[in-house]
Amino acid sequence: HDVVDRPRNPGAGGETHQQPDGKAPALTTSQGAPVADNQNTLRGGTRGPALMEDFHFREKIFHFDHERIPERVVHARGYGAHGYFETLEAIPELTAANLFQKAGEITPAFVRFSTVAGNKGSQDLARDVRGFAVKLYTQEGNWDIVGNNIPVFFIQDAIKFPDLIHAAKDEPDRGFPQAQTAHDNFWDFISLMPESMHMVMWIMSDRTIPRSFRFMEGFGVHTFRMVNARGEGSFVKFHWRPRLGMQSVLWDEALKINGADPDFHRRDLWDAIQSGDFPEWELGLQVFDDAFADAFPFDVLDPTKIIPEEDVPLRIVGRLVLDRMVDNFFAETEQVAFCTQNIVPGIDFTNDPLLQGRNFSYLDTQIKRLGGPNFTHIPINAPRCPFHHFQQDGHMAMHGPRGRANYEPNSWAQGGPRADPKRGHVSFPEEISGEKRKVRPESFADHYSQARQFYISQTPIEQGHIADALVFELSKVQAPEIRERMVAHLPHIDAGLAQKVADGLGLKAVPPAHTPARAPVETAPS
Ligand code: HEM
Repeated sequence: HDVVDRPRNPGAGGETHQQPDGKAPALTTSQGAPVADNQNTLRGGTRGPALMEDFHFREKIFHFDHERIPERVVHARGYGAHGYFETLEAIPELTAANLFQKAGEITPAFVRFSTVAGNKGSQDLARDVRGFAVKLYTQEGNWDIVGNNIPVFFIQDAIKFPDLIHAAKDEPDRGFPQAQTAHDNFWDFISLMPESMHMVMWIMSDRTIPRSFRFMEGFGVHTFRMVNARGEGSFVKFHWRPRLGMQSVLWDEALKINGADPDFHRRDLWDAIQSGDFPEWELGLQVFDDAFADAFPFDVLDPTKIIPEEDVPLRIVGRLVLDRMVDNFFAETEQVAFCTQNIVPGIDFTNDPLLQGRNFSYLDTQIKRLGGPNFTHIPINAPRCPFHHFQQDGHMAMHGPRGRANYEPNSWAQGGPRADPKRGHVSFPEEISGEKRKVRPESFADHYSQARQFYISQTPIEQGHIADALVFELSKVQAPEIRERMVAHLPHIDAGLAQKVADGLGLKAVPPAHTPARAPVETAPS
Protein backbone atom coordinates (compact mmCIF):
# COMPACT_ATOMS: atom_id res chain seq x y z
CA HIS A 1 0.00 0.00 0.00
CA ASP A 2 1.17 3.49 -0.82
CA VAL A 3 0.34 4.94 2.62
CA VAL A 4 3.51 6.96 3.19
CA ASP A 5 3.25 10.20 1.27
CA ARG A 6 6.65 11.88 1.54
CA PRO A 7 6.64 15.71 1.33
CA ARG A 8 7.21 16.99 -2.17
CA ASN A 9 7.78 20.51 -3.34
CA PRO A 10 5.44 21.64 -4.81
CA GLY A 11 2.63 19.25 -3.77
CA ALA A 12 0.44 17.42 -6.22
CA GLY A 13 -2.19 20.13 -5.72
CA GLY A 14 0.35 22.83 -6.59
CA GLU A 15 0.65 23.99 -2.96
CA THR A 16 4.04 24.82 -1.45
CA HIS A 17 5.46 22.44 1.11
CA GLN A 18 7.51 24.78 3.25
CA GLN A 19 10.68 23.12 4.58
CA PRO A 20 12.70 24.14 7.66
CA ASP A 21 15.31 26.65 6.53
CA GLY A 22 17.51 26.42 9.62
CA LYS A 23 15.84 29.50 11.15
CA ALA A 24 12.23 28.38 11.63
CA PRO A 25 11.68 25.70 14.29
CA ALA A 26 10.32 22.30 13.28
CA LEU A 27 6.52 22.05 13.26
CA THR A 28 5.43 19.58 15.96
CA THR A 29 2.27 18.07 17.37
CA SER A 30 1.16 19.39 20.77
CA GLN A 31 2.99 16.37 22.21
CA GLY A 32 6.19 17.71 20.65
CA ALA A 33 6.60 15.11 17.88
CA PRO A 34 8.02 16.60 14.64
CA VAL A 35 5.55 16.69 11.74
CA ALA A 36 6.67 15.59 8.28
CA ASP A 37 3.65 16.68 6.18
CA ASN A 38 1.14 19.37 7.11
CA GLN A 39 -0.73 19.31 3.76
CA ASN A 40 -1.93 15.75 3.22
CA THR A 41 -3.87 13.37 5.43
CA LEU A 42 -2.70 9.80 5.71
CA ARG A 43 -4.69 7.76 3.18
CA GLY A 44 -5.23 4.16 2.24
CA GLY A 45 -3.96 4.45 -1.34
CA THR A 46 -3.28 7.80 -2.97
CA ARG A 47 -6.96 8.25 -3.88
CA GLY A 48 -8.34 6.15 -0.99
CA PRO A 49 -10.04 7.03 2.30
CA ALA A 50 -8.38 8.98 5.13
CA LEU A 51 -7.05 6.74 7.91
CA MET A 52 -8.01 7.24 11.56
CA GLU A 53 -4.41 6.44 12.37
CA ASP A 54 -3.30 9.93 11.24
CA PHE A 55 -2.74 11.24 14.77
CA HIS A 56 -1.41 14.58 13.51
CA PHE A 57 -4.56 15.22 11.43
CA ARG A 58 -6.87 14.15 14.26
CA GLU A 59 -5.12 16.25 16.88
CA LYS A 60 -5.05 19.29 14.60
CA ILE A 61 -8.77 19.11 13.77
CA PHE A 62 -9.83 18.20 17.32
CA HIS A 63 -8.03 21.25 18.67
CA PHE A 64 -9.52 23.52 16.03
CA ASP A 65 -13.02 22.18 16.80
CA HIS A 66 -12.59 23.32 20.41
CA GLU A 67 -11.14 26.79 19.79
CA ARG A 68 -14.21 28.76 20.83
CA ILE A 69 -15.22 29.46 24.40
CA PRO A 70 -18.36 31.42 25.33
CA GLU A 71 -17.88 35.11 24.78
CA ARG A 72 -18.44 37.29 27.82
CA VAL A 73 -22.17 37.70 28.45
CA VAL A 74 -21.50 41.47 28.45
CA HIS A 75 -18.38 43.40 27.41
CA ALA A 76 -17.67 40.67 24.84
CA ARG A 77 -15.65 42.93 22.57
CA GLY A 78 -12.53 44.20 24.24
CA TYR A 79 -8.89 45.02 23.83
CA GLY A 80 -6.17 44.73 26.45
CA ALA A 81 -2.64 45.90 27.13
CA HIS A 82 0.02 45.53 29.81
CA GLY A 83 1.59 48.34 31.76
CA TYR A 84 2.29 49.55 35.25
CA PHE A 85 0.87 51.73 37.98
CA GLU A 86 3.20 54.15 39.73
CA THR A 87 2.25 55.50 43.15
CA LEU A 88 2.82 59.26 43.10
CA GLU A 89 1.70 59.97 46.65
CA ALA A 90 1.84 57.68 49.68
CA ILE A 91 -1.53 57.69 51.50
CA PRO A 92 -1.06 55.48 54.60
CA GLU A 93 -3.45 57.75 56.51
CA LEU A 94 -6.21 56.59 54.12
CA THR A 95 -5.37 52.99 53.34
CA ALA A 96 -3.17 50.15 54.47
CA ALA A 97 -3.07 48.90 50.85
CA ASN A 98 0.52 47.90 50.22
CA LEU A 99 0.79 49.70 46.87
CA PHE A 100 0.01 53.08 48.47
CA GLN A 101 2.62 52.98 51.26
CA LYS A 102 5.42 54.74 49.42
CA ALA A 103 5.69 57.09 46.46
CA GLY A 104 7.53 55.53 43.52
CA GLU A 105 6.13 52.02 44.13
CA ILE A 106 5.63 50.30 40.77
CA THR A 107 2.81 47.75 40.40
CA PRO A 108 2.39 45.70 37.19
CA ALA A 109 -1.02 46.24 35.54
CA PHE A 110 -3.24 44.80 32.82
CA VAL A 111 -6.11 46.83 31.36
CA ARG A 112 -8.99 45.70 29.15
CA PHE A 113 -11.17 48.27 27.38
CA SER A 114 -14.49 47.07 25.97
CA THR A 115 -17.90 47.90 24.64
CA VAL A 116 -20.85 46.44 26.56
CA ALA A 117 -23.77 45.39 24.37
CA GLY A 118 -22.20 44.31 21.09
CA ASN A 119 -20.95 40.81 20.48
CA LYS A 120 -17.28 39.93 20.07
CA GLY A 121 -17.29 40.79 16.37
CA SER A 122 -19.17 44.08 16.59
CA GLN A 123 -17.84 47.55 15.76
CA ASP A 124 -15.61 49.64 17.96
CA LEU A 125 -17.47 52.95 17.64
CA ALA A 126 -20.93 51.89 18.77
CA ARG A 127 -22.99 54.27 20.88
CA ASP A 128 -22.37 52.35 24.07
CA VAL A 129 -20.66 52.48 27.44
CA ARG A 130 -16.98 51.51 27.43
CA GLY A 131 -15.52 49.15 30.02
CA PHE A 132 -12.29 50.26 31.67
CA ALA A 133 -11.13 47.25 33.70
CA VAL A 134 -7.79 47.45 35.51
CA LYS A 135 -5.98 44.57 37.17
CA LEU A 136 -3.21 45.63 39.54
CA TYR A 137 -0.82 42.79 40.46
CA THR A 138 0.07 44.15 43.92
CA GLN A 139 2.45 42.52 46.39
CA GLU A 140 -0.55 41.57 48.51
CA GLY A 141 -2.72 40.11 45.79
CA ASN A 142 -4.57 41.18 42.68
CA TRP A 143 -6.76 44.25 42.98
CA ASP A 144 -9.27 44.78 40.15
CA ILE A 145 -10.98 48.12 39.55
CA VAL A 146 -13.66 46.97 37.09
CA GLY A 147 -14.94 50.31 35.87
CA ASN A 148 -16.53 52.10 32.94
CA ASN A 149 -15.89 55.34 31.05
CA ILE A 150 -19.11 56.82 32.47
CA PRO A 151 -19.23 57.55 36.22
CA VAL A 152 -22.83 56.40 36.79
CA PHE A 153 -24.91 53.36 35.85
CA PHE A 154 -28.39 52.62 34.48
CA ILE A 155 -29.79 50.79 37.48
CA GLN A 156 -29.56 50.97 41.25
CA ASP A 157 -29.83 47.27 42.06
CA ALA A 158 -28.04 44.28 40.52
CA ILE A 159 -31.28 42.27 40.42
CA LYS A 160 -32.23 44.38 37.37
CA PHE A 161 -29.03 43.67 35.44
CA PRO A 162 -30.19 40.60 33.45
CA ASP A 163 -33.27 42.58 32.30
CA LEU A 164 -31.22 45.63 31.34
CA ILE A 165 -28.80 43.50 29.31
CA HIS A 166 -31.51 41.38 27.69
CA ALA A 167 -33.25 44.60 26.63
CA ALA A 168 -30.02 46.15 25.30
CA LYS A 169 -28.83 43.16 23.27
CA ASP A 170 -30.43 41.58 20.17
CA GLU A 171 -34.12 40.80 20.44
CA PRO A 172 -34.83 37.09 21.01
CA ASP A 173 -37.14 36.49 18.05
CA ARG A 174 -35.25 38.37 15.32
CA GLY A 175 -31.67 38.13 16.54
CA PHE A 176 -30.88 41.78 15.85
CA PRO A 177 -29.80 44.53 16.35
CA GLN A 178 -26.36 43.30 17.24
CA ALA A 179 -24.79 46.41 18.68
CA GLN A 180 -27.31 49.24 18.72
CA THR A 181 -29.20 50.85 21.52
CA ALA A 182 -31.63 52.13 18.86
CA HIS A 183 -34.41 49.55 19.15
CA ASP A 184 -37.76 48.99 20.83
CA ASN A 185 -36.68 46.59 23.59
CA PHE A 186 -33.92 48.90 24.83
CA TRP A 187 -36.06 52.02 24.95
CA ASP A 188 -39.05 50.12 26.32
CA PHE A 189 -36.99 49.04 29.33
CA ILE A 190 -35.30 52.43 29.75
CA SER A 191 -38.58 54.36 29.54
CA LEU A 192 -39.94 52.14 32.33
CA MET A 193 -36.85 52.78 34.45
CA PRO A 194 -36.70 56.42 35.64
CA GLU A 195 -33.50 55.75 37.60
CA SER A 196 -31.68 55.31 34.27
CA MET A 197 -32.26 58.94 33.16
CA HIS A 198 -28.94 60.29 34.42
CA MET A 199 -27.01 57.57 32.59
CA VAL A 200 -29.18 58.11 29.49
CA MET A 201 -28.01 61.73 29.34
CA TRP A 202 -24.39 60.54 29.38
CA ILE A 203 -24.84 57.89 26.68
CA MET A 204 -26.74 60.28 24.42
CA SER A 205 -23.95 62.85 24.85
CA ASP A 206 -20.66 63.36 23.03
CA ARG A 207 -18.91 61.65 25.93
CA THR A 208 -20.08 58.28 24.76
CA ILE A 209 -18.11 57.62 21.57
CA PRO A 210 -14.43 58.06 22.40
CA ARG A 211 -11.99 59.04 19.68
CA SER A 212 -9.78 56.28 21.02
CA PHE A 213 -9.24 54.40 24.26
CA ARG A 214 -6.29 56.73 24.88
CA PHE A 215 -8.63 59.74 25.15
CA MET A 216 -11.10 58.14 27.51
CA GLU A 217 -11.78 58.59 31.21
CA GLY A 218 -12.42 55.69 33.58
CA PHE A 219 -14.45 55.45 36.77
CA GLY A 220 -14.85 52.84 39.51
CA VAL A 221 -18.49 54.09 39.56
CA HIS A 222 -19.43 52.78 43.03
CA THR A 223 -18.41 54.34 46.30
CA PHE A 224 -15.73 52.06 47.78
CA ARG A 225 -14.04 52.20 51.14
CA MET A 226 -10.38 52.60 52.04
CA VAL A 227 -9.25 51.39 55.45
CA ASN A 228 -5.99 52.41 57.14
CA ALA A 229 -3.76 50.37 59.45
CA ARG A 230 -5.67 51.64 62.49
CA GLY A 231 -8.91 50.28 61.01
CA GLU A 232 -10.31 53.76 60.21
CA GLY A 233 -12.37 53.93 57.04
CA SER A 234 -13.03 56.61 54.38
CA PHE A 235 -15.37 56.52 51.43
CA VAL A 236 -13.65 56.77 48.06
CA LYS A 237 -14.51 57.12 44.37
CA PHE A 238 -11.86 56.13 41.79
CA HIS A 239 -11.22 58.21 38.64
CA TRP A 240 -8.80 57.54 35.75
CA ARG A 241 -7.90 60.78 33.94
CA PRO A 242 -6.26 60.47 30.47
CA ARG A 243 -3.09 62.54 30.16
CA LEU A 244 -4.00 63.24 26.51
CA GLY A 245 -7.29 64.80 27.61
CA MET A 246 -10.72 63.57 26.66
CA GLN A 247 -11.80 63.50 23.02
CA SER A 248 -14.79 62.01 21.29
CA VAL A 249 -16.09 61.64 17.75
CA LEU A 250 -19.46 62.78 16.47
CA TRP A 251 -22.14 60.28 15.53
CA ASP A 252 -21.71 60.86 11.79
CA GLU A 253 -17.97 60.34 12.11
CA ALA A 254 -18.56 57.18 14.13
CA LEU A 255 -20.81 55.76 11.42
CA LYS A 256 -18.20 56.35 8.73
CA ILE A 257 -15.35 54.97 10.82
CA ASN A 258 -17.35 51.87 11.77
CA GLY A 259 -17.99 51.22 8.08
CA ALA A 260 -14.42 51.80 6.98
CA ASP A 261 -12.60 50.27 9.94
CA PRO A 262 -14.64 48.50 12.63
CA ASP A 263 -11.35 47.84 14.50
CA PHE A 264 -10.50 51.54 14.75
CA HIS A 265 -10.04 51.63 18.54
CA ARG A 266 -8.01 48.47 18.80
CA ARG A 267 -5.83 49.46 15.85
CA ASP A 268 -5.22 52.87 17.47
CA LEU A 269 -4.06 51.29 20.76
CA TRP A 270 -1.91 48.71 18.99
CA ASP A 271 -0.25 51.34 16.76
CA ALA A 272 0.34 53.78 19.62
CA ILE A 273 1.93 51.24 21.94
CA GLN A 274 3.95 49.53 19.20
CA SER A 275 5.42 52.90 18.20
CA GLY A 276 6.36 53.78 21.80
CA ASP A 277 3.59 56.34 22.27
CA PHE A 278 2.45 54.97 25.62
CA PRO A 279 -0.97 56.14 26.85
CA GLU A 280 -1.18 57.28 30.42
CA TRP A 281 -3.87 58.01 33.02
CA GLU A 282 -3.76 59.65 36.43
CA LEU A 283 -5.54 57.96 39.30
CA GLY A 284 -7.64 60.53 41.15
CA LEU A 285 -9.46 59.84 44.40
CA GLN A 286 -12.52 61.56 45.79
CA VAL A 287 -12.26 60.87 49.50
CA PHE A 288 -15.01 61.74 51.97
CA ASP A 289 -16.24 60.71 55.37
CA ASP A 290 -19.55 59.69 56.94
CA ALA A 291 -20.42 63.30 57.79
CA PHE A 292 -20.15 64.34 54.12
CA ALA A 293 -22.06 61.24 53.04
CA ASP A 294 -24.87 62.04 55.49
CA ALA A 295 -25.08 65.68 54.34
CA PHE A 296 -24.94 64.89 50.60
CA PRO A 297 -28.40 65.34 49.02
CA PHE A 298 -28.21 61.91 47.38
CA ASP A 299 -27.19 58.54 48.74
CA VAL A 300 -23.49 57.84 48.19
CA LEU A 301 -24.47 54.15 47.84
CA ASP A 302 -26.61 54.98 44.78
CA PRO A 303 -24.58 54.20 41.61
CA THR A 304 -26.75 56.49 39.49
CA LYS A 305 -25.21 59.53 41.24
CA ILE A 306 -21.85 61.29 41.07
CA ILE A 307 -20.12 63.24 43.81
CA PRO A 308 -19.51 66.68 42.22
CA GLU A 309 -15.83 67.57 41.98
CA GLU A 310 -16.69 71.10 43.22
CA ASP A 311 -17.64 69.44 46.52
CA VAL A 312 -14.87 66.84 46.64
CA PRO A 313 -11.94 67.65 44.33
CA LEU A 314 -9.79 64.87 42.91
CA ARG A 315 -6.62 63.97 44.75
CA ILE A 316 -4.11 62.54 42.26
CA VAL A 317 -2.22 59.66 43.87
CA GLY A 318 -0.82 57.67 40.98
CA ARG A 319 -0.44 57.13 37.26
CA LEU A 320 -1.15 54.20 34.98
CA VAL A 321 0.99 53.66 31.86
CA LEU A 322 0.28 51.08 29.14
CA ASP A 323 3.54 50.13 27.43
CA ARG A 324 3.25 46.57 26.09
CA MET A 325 0.79 44.76 23.88
CA VAL A 326 -0.11 41.18 24.59
CA ASP A 327 1.84 38.32 22.99
CA ASN A 328 -1.37 36.42 22.34
CA PHE A 329 -4.80 38.02 22.23
CA PHE A 330 -6.74 34.93 23.31
CA ALA A 331 -4.40 33.82 26.10
CA GLU A 332 -4.36 37.24 27.69
CA THR A 333 -7.17 39.57 26.57
CA GLU A 334 -9.83 36.90 26.16
CA GLN A 335 -8.91 34.86 29.20
CA VAL A 336 -8.35 37.70 31.62
CA ALA A 337 -10.94 37.56 34.39
CA PHE A 338 -11.67 40.78 36.24
CA CYS A 339 -13.82 40.65 39.34
CA THR A 340 -15.03 43.39 41.67
CA GLN A 341 -14.44 40.97 44.52
CA ASN A 342 -10.68 40.97 43.90
CA ILE A 343 -9.60 43.45 46.54
CA VAL A 344 -6.56 43.68 48.81
CA PRO A 345 -6.08 44.57 52.49
CA GLY A 346 -6.82 48.29 52.88
CA ILE A 347 -9.61 48.33 50.25
CA ASP A 348 -13.21 47.39 51.04
CA PHE A 349 -16.73 47.39 49.61
CA THR A 350 -19.72 49.46 50.56
CA ASN A 351 -23.39 48.46 50.65
CA ASP A 352 -24.12 49.78 47.15
CA PRO A 353 -26.66 47.15 46.00
CA LEU A 354 -25.25 47.13 42.48
CA LEU A 355 -21.73 46.46 43.74
CA GLN A 356 -22.94 43.73 46.08
CA GLY A 357 -24.59 41.92 43.16
CA ARG A 358 -21.55 42.35 40.93
CA ASN A 359 -19.46 40.71 43.63
CA PHE A 360 -21.49 37.54 43.07
CA SER A 361 -21.78 37.69 39.29
CA TYR A 362 -18.21 37.84 37.96
CA LEU A 363 -16.79 34.74 39.62
CA ASP A 364 -19.89 32.78 38.74
CA THR A 365 -19.80 33.64 35.04
CA GLN A 366 -16.03 33.13 34.79
CA ILE A 367 -16.26 29.57 36.12
CA LYS A 368 -18.45 28.85 33.10
CA ARG A 369 -16.62 31.03 30.59
CA LEU A 370 -13.16 29.76 31.48
CA GLY A 371 -14.17 26.16 32.03
CA GLY A 372 -13.85 25.56 35.75
CA PRO A 373 -12.46 26.82 39.02
CA ASN A 374 -8.77 26.95 38.05
CA PHE A 375 -8.71 30.04 35.82
CA THR A 376 -6.45 31.77 38.36
CA HIS A 377 -3.76 29.34 37.18
CA ILE A 378 -3.73 31.04 33.75
CA PRO A 379 -0.72 33.40 33.82
CA ILE A 380 -2.77 36.57 33.05
CA ASN A 381 -4.96 35.90 36.10
CA ALA A 382 -2.34 34.52 38.48
CA PRO A 383 -1.06 36.76 41.28
CA ARG A 384 2.51 37.94 40.87
CA CYS A 385 3.18 37.76 44.60
CA PRO A 386 3.70 34.55 46.60
CA PHE A 387 0.41 32.75 47.23
CA HIS A 388 -0.41 29.66 49.28
CA HIS A 389 -3.76 28.01 49.86
CA PHE A 390 -5.35 24.58 50.16
CA GLN A 391 -7.45 24.67 46.99
CA GLN A 392 -6.72 21.66 44.82
CA ASP A 393 -7.70 19.59 41.78
CA GLY A 394 -10.44 20.40 39.26
CA HIS A 395 -10.09 20.78 35.50
CA MET A 396 -6.76 22.13 34.25
CA ALA A 397 -5.07 22.31 37.66
CA MET A 398 -1.50 23.52 37.16
CA HIS A 399 -0.52 23.26 40.81
CA GLY A 400 -1.90 22.38 44.22
CA PRO A 401 -0.84 22.09 47.84
CA ARG A 402 2.72 20.83 48.30
CA GLY A 403 3.45 18.02 50.70
CA ARG A 404 0.96 16.15 52.83
CA ALA A 405 -1.15 18.92 54.32
CA ASN A 406 -4.15 20.02 52.24
CA TYR A 407 -6.38 21.11 55.12
CA GLU A 408 -6.21 23.49 58.05
CA PRO A 409 -5.84 23.36 61.03
CA ASN A 410 -3.32 20.52 60.92
CA SER A 411 -0.52 19.43 63.21
CA TRP A 412 2.17 18.58 60.66
CA ALA A 413 5.58 20.19 61.05
CA GLN A 414 5.40 21.38 57.43
CA GLY A 415 1.73 22.18 57.79
CA GLY A 416 1.42 24.73 55.01
CA PRO A 417 0.05 28.28 55.14
CA ARG A 418 -1.73 29.89 58.09
CA ALA A 419 -4.18 32.81 58.23
CA ASP A 420 -2.57 35.99 59.58
CA PRO A 421 -4.93 38.47 61.30
CA LYS A 422 -2.22 41.16 61.22
CA ARG A 423 -1.66 41.05 57.44
CA GLY A 424 -4.86 39.61 56.05
CA HIS A 425 -7.94 41.39 54.76
CA VAL A 426 -10.30 42.42 57.56
CA SER A 427 -13.71 43.83 56.63
CA PHE A 428 -14.48 47.32 57.86
CA PRO A 429 -16.58 46.74 61.01
CA GLU A 430 -19.57 48.68 59.81
CA GLU A 431 -22.66 48.46 62.00
CA ILE A 432 -25.65 46.83 60.34
CA SER A 433 -29.19 46.96 61.66
CA GLY A 434 -32.77 46.99 60.41
CA GLU A 435 -35.43 44.71 59.07
CA LYS A 436 -34.78 42.14 56.36
CA ARG A 437 -36.84 43.53 53.47
CA LYS A 438 -36.92 43.91 49.68
CA VAL A 439 -37.13 47.68 49.51
CA ARG A 440 -35.26 50.64 48.14
CA PRO A 441 -34.52 53.48 50.56
CA GLU A 442 -36.11 56.89 50.12
CA SER A 443 -32.60 58.31 49.63
CA PHE A 444 -32.52 56.56 46.22
CA ALA A 445 -35.69 58.31 44.98
CA ASP A 446 -34.55 61.38 43.02
CA HIS A 447 -33.90 60.24 39.45
CA TYR A 448 -33.83 63.52 37.57
CA SER A 449 -31.79 66.20 39.40
CA GLN A 450 -28.37 64.95 38.35
CA ALA A 451 -29.63 64.23 34.82
CA ARG A 452 -30.65 67.89 34.69
CA GLN A 453 -27.32 69.07 36.13
CA PHE A 454 -25.46 67.02 33.52
CA TYR A 455 -27.58 68.40 30.68
CA ILE A 456 -27.22 72.03 31.70
CA SER A 457 -23.46 71.60 32.19
CA GLN A 458 -23.13 70.95 28.43
CA THR A 459 -22.47 73.69 25.86
CA PRO A 460 -25.37 74.55 23.52
CA ILE A 461 -23.68 72.55 20.72
CA GLU A 462 -23.33 69.54 23.00
CA GLN A 463 -26.93 69.91 24.16
CA GLY A 464 -27.94 69.88 20.49
CA HIS A 465 -26.07 66.61 20.02
CA ILE A 466 -27.97 65.04 22.95
CA ALA A 467 -31.29 66.08 21.37
CA ASP A 468 -30.16 64.78 17.95
CA ALA A 469 -29.08 61.47 19.46
CA LEU A 470 -32.42 61.01 21.21
CA VAL A 471 -34.31 61.83 18.01
CA PHE A 472 -32.19 59.40 15.98
CA GLU A 473 -32.47 56.60 18.56
CA LEU A 474 -36.20 57.00 19.20
CA SER A 475 -36.97 57.34 15.50
CA LYS A 476 -35.77 53.72 15.16
CA VAL A 477 -38.32 52.66 17.77
CA GLN A 478 -41.44 51.36 16.04
CA ALA A 479 -43.93 51.40 18.93
CA PRO A 480 -45.28 54.97 19.31
CA GLU A 481 -46.15 54.42 22.98
CA ILE A 482 -42.51 53.64 23.80
CA ARG A 483 -41.30 56.81 22.06
CA GLU A 484 -43.87 58.90 23.86
CA ARG A 485 -43.20 57.33 27.23
CA MET A 486 -39.54 58.15 26.80
CA VAL A 487 -40.15 61.76 25.73
CA ALA A 488 -42.47 62.17 28.72
CA HIS A 489 -39.46 61.84 31.05
CA LEU A 490 -37.60 64.72 29.44
CA PRO A 491 -39.52 67.71 30.90
CA HIS A 492 -38.24 66.58 34.31
CA ILE A 493 -34.74 67.11 32.89
CA ASP A 494 -35.19 70.15 30.63
CA ALA A 495 -38.29 71.57 28.95
CA GLY A 496 -36.31 72.75 25.89
CA LEU A 497 -34.80 69.29 25.39
CA ALA A 498 -38.25 67.69 25.65
CA GLN A 499 -39.64 70.09 23.03
CA LYS A 500 -36.74 69.55 20.62
CA VAL A 501 -37.06 65.78 20.80
CA ALA A 502 -40.86 65.91 20.47
CA ASP A 503 -40.48 68.15 17.40
CA GLY A 504 -37.77 65.92 15.93
CA LEU A 505 -40.04 62.90 16.26
CA GLY A 506 -43.01 64.76 14.80
CA LEU A 507 -45.09 64.54 17.98
CA LYS A 508 -47.90 67.09 18.24
CA ALA A 509 -46.92 67.98 21.81
CA VAL A 510 -44.68 66.81 24.62
CA PRO A 511 -46.59 63.90 26.17
CA PRO A 512 -47.61 64.34 29.82
CA ALA A 513 -45.21 62.97 32.41
CA HIS A 514 -46.16 59.52 33.67
CA THR A 515 -43.77 59.57 36.63
CA PRO A 516 -43.47 62.29 39.26
CA ALA A 517 -40.22 64.24 39.37
CA ARG A 518 -39.37 62.44 42.56
CA ALA A 519 -40.36 58.84 42.02
CA PRO A 520 -42.11 56.99 44.83
CA VAL A 521 -39.56 54.23 44.91
CA GLU A 522 -41.77 51.34 45.88
CA THR A 523 -44.27 51.94 43.08
CA ALA A 524 -43.49 50.66 39.61
CA PRO A 525 -44.12 53.29 36.90
CA SER A 526 -47.32 52.73 34.93
C1 HEM B 1 -18.06 42.39 32.59
C2 HEM B 1 -18.07 46.89 34.30
C3 HEM B 1 -22.39 46.17 36.32
C4 HEM B 1 -21.90 41.53 35.34
C5 HEM B 1 -17.71 43.68 32.86
C6 HEM B 1 -16.56 44.32 32.36
C7 HEM B 1 -16.54 45.58 32.84
C8 HEM B 1 -17.71 45.74 33.66
C9 HEM B 1 -15.50 46.64 32.59
C10 HEM B 1 -15.55 43.74 31.39
C11 HEM B 1 -14.45 43.08 32.10
C12 HEM B 1 -13.42 42.62 31.11
O1 HEM B 1 -12.86 43.47 30.40
O2 HEM B 1 -13.17 41.41 31.06
C13 HEM B 1 -19.26 47.07 34.98
C14 HEM B 1 -19.64 48.29 35.65
C15 HEM B 1 -20.87 48.09 36.20
C16 HEM B 1 -21.24 46.74 35.89
C17 HEM B 1 -18.78 49.53 35.75
C18 HEM B 1 -21.72 49.02 37.02
C19 HEM B 1 -21.26 49.99 37.69
C20 HEM B 1 -22.58 44.84 36.32
C21 HEM B 1 -23.63 44.17 37.03
C22 HEM B 1 -23.48 42.86 36.77
C23 HEM B 1 -22.35 42.70 35.87
C24 HEM B 1 -24.68 44.84 37.92
C25 HEM B 1 -24.30 41.69 37.26
C26 HEM B 1 -25.04 41.68 38.33
C27 HEM B 1 -20.88 41.39 34.46
C28 HEM B 1 -20.51 40.13 33.85
C29 HEM B 1 -19.39 40.39 33.05
C30 HEM B 1 -19.10 41.78 33.20
C31 HEM B 1 -21.21 38.80 34.05
C32 HEM B 1 -18.64 39.40 32.19
C33 HEM B 1 -17.43 38.95 32.98
C34 HEM B 1 -16.61 37.90 32.28
O3 HEM B 1 -17.17 37.06 31.56
O4 HEM B 1 -15.39 37.90 32.49
N1 HEM B 1 -18.41 44.55 33.66
N2 HEM B 1 -20.25 46.15 35.14
N3 HEM B 1 -21.82 43.93 35.64
N4 HEM B 1 -20.02 42.36 34.05
FE1 HEM B 1 -20.09 44.23 34.65
